[in-house]
Amino acid sequence: MAVLVTGGAGYIGSHTVAALHERGEEIIILDNLQQGHKEALLGGKLYVGDLRDNDILDKVFTENEIDAVIHFAANSLVGESMKNPGKYYNNNVFGTLCLLEKMNEYNVKKIVFSSTAATYGEPESVPIDEYDRTTPTNAYGETKLAMEKMMKWFDVAYGVKYISLRYFNAAGAHDSGKIGEAHDPETHLIPIVLEAALGKRPHISVFGDDYATEDGTCIRDYIHVSDLADAHLRAVDALRKGSDSAVYNLGSSHGFSVKEVIDIAREVTGREIPVVMEQRRAGDPAVLVASSTRAREELGWSPDRSNLKEIIASAWSWHVNHPNGYNE
Ligand code: UFG
Repeated sequence: MAVLVTGGAGYIGSHTVAALHERGEEIIILDNLQQGHKEALLGGKLYVGDLRDNDILDKVFTENEIDAVIHFAANSLVGESMKNPGKYYNNNVFGTLCLLEKMNEYNVKKIVFSSTAATYGEPESVPIDEYDRTTPTNAYGETKLAMEKMMKWFDVAYGVKYISLRYFNAAGAHDSGKIGEAHDPETHLIPIVLEAALGKRPHISVFGDDYATEDGTCIRDYIHVSDLADAHLRAVDALRKGSDSAVYNLGSSHGFSVKEVIDIAREVTGREIPVVMEQRRAGDPAVLVASSTRAREELGWSPDRSNLKEIIASAWSWHVNHPNGYNE
């Protein structure tokens, strides 16, 4: 039986495909390659197409024996979602509806879902656990929450079991050095800091130093992409063993400020990293740190790679060797 990975050519998707491949799974990838890179696929059979295309979904489900789906395919830029929410409802929410309908039609009843800390919005308390209030502050998070809720009702109606994984801040690169983070445009802190270290950018702009945190900059919970990939495999295993639907936070449970990230990046790279202070970026909560107790207890997950120095060192190695991402 095969695992279908939608969006498998993206950043977290490609690391999950690599992990599935390493343990000998049969892998089918569906990706429209709008943001993904086919060079990022270390295994599996790729179908280039969109979730909203009924014909390609029929082809994927008829040509392969799929028992579980890992669903990454989505747009995921917070800023863009605020300017163009319709794009997010169309691709993310409608795309997921197309996928769930097709899974049900072909009697595929297991799905692992790529969700986000953005479903919580401004947290009630820190660390955040899965029972906390979900009031997204941006359209991206709102669409991810809508997708989770859609899965809940497909479970109630048809018994489609889902495990939703709410990631905090993914970073780092694969041990092989072959795959890593390559977004265009890049908006995430760690790759931008490393691009500044490489001299590809003149500086890193820090968005606000007047937050109610010790050094005034935002605190985030950074998690190694390979630890995230491992959680997806554990979630597939849990569903195959008959687990009920569930939602899990995936984070390291440790928070680092933007200034701390820059200091550790200076230490790891040995480079100057010029900093320019700027205004706050709209929609950024001051502190996002996960309680991942549930994933640790129920999935047996242990994020062993998620020491921030190790995360930055692995990302640095990728950036030094692939300064233009996949466009060599
Ligand atoms: N930051 C800067 N300068 C930059 C980029 C980021 O100061 O050039 C700051 C941000 O303001 C934030 C922190 O660095 O305080 C981390 O920002 P990222 O953009 O790297 O990550 P976010 O925390 O905004 O985003 C992450 C995920 C999203 C998810 C969001 C939930 O990447 O997918 O958490 O809030 F939606």
